[in-house]
Amino acid sequence: MSTLKITGLSGGLSSPSRTLSLVELALGRISAQAAAGGLANDTQLIDIAALEGIGALRSRPAGDAVEAALRAVEEADLLIVGSPVYKGSYSGLFKHFVDFLDYGGLVGLPVALLATGGSERHALVIEHQLRPLFAFFQAQPLGTGAFFTERDFANGAVAAGPSAVRFDRLVDEAVHALGSRRYLRATVERAA
Ligand SMILES: Cc1cc2nc3c(=O)[nH]c(=O)nc-3n(C[C@H](O)[C@H](O)[C@H](O)COP(=O)(O)O)c2cc1C
Repeated sequence: MSTLKITGLSGGLSSPSRTLSLVELALGRISAQAAAGGLANDTQLIDIAALEGIGALRSRPAGDAVEAALRAVEEADLLIVGSPVYKGSYSGLFKHFVDFLDYGGLVGLPVALLATGGSERHALVIEHQLRPLFAFFQAQPLGTGAFFTERDFANGAVAAGPSAVRFDRLVDEAVHALGSRRYLRATVERAA
């Protein structure tokens, strides 16, 4: 059976970026927990801001780095996305990348939704902005999204408390979704 692919995608623009660190942490946790449960997987972390040629992206096929990143998202078995809140929504750079994904390339794909922001007042960015965006693609966002301010997530670690509980739940849901994905794949491979 083929190895499952987990892709992390960060729309943070800062360097260092808390969003990138958060996506990386989620990717590591989900990958390790899945592997411990017998779900062999490969991971790839995409930092959109670091992609060569991202500013010049106007059409597909894109330049090598951007095209490989777009494909890593379209070919994933699980996608973990994270964006900083910018003016109450995801960053413009995040949307610029997503705009060039194949509109049929994410159907049924489980997506873990993460966001970071300066204020808890904008925690619903996950429900009001990210979730509808992935609904457009007919993807399957996981039930639990996780939003982090600096108080909840600093120096690469999730602080104990409600955010940590939500993060753990998101990891569990992601691993469960990967298990379903492997079952579906096995069924398709047997039928072929
Ligand atoms: C241009 C800009 C707009 C922002 N707008 C918001 C906002 O509307 N709501 C909010 O809570 N934080 C806002 N922030 C704060 C960032 O979301 C927050 O610092 C985030 O964690 C940065 O992530 P990063 O380290 O990955 O860049 C804004 C920051 C910038 C630079």
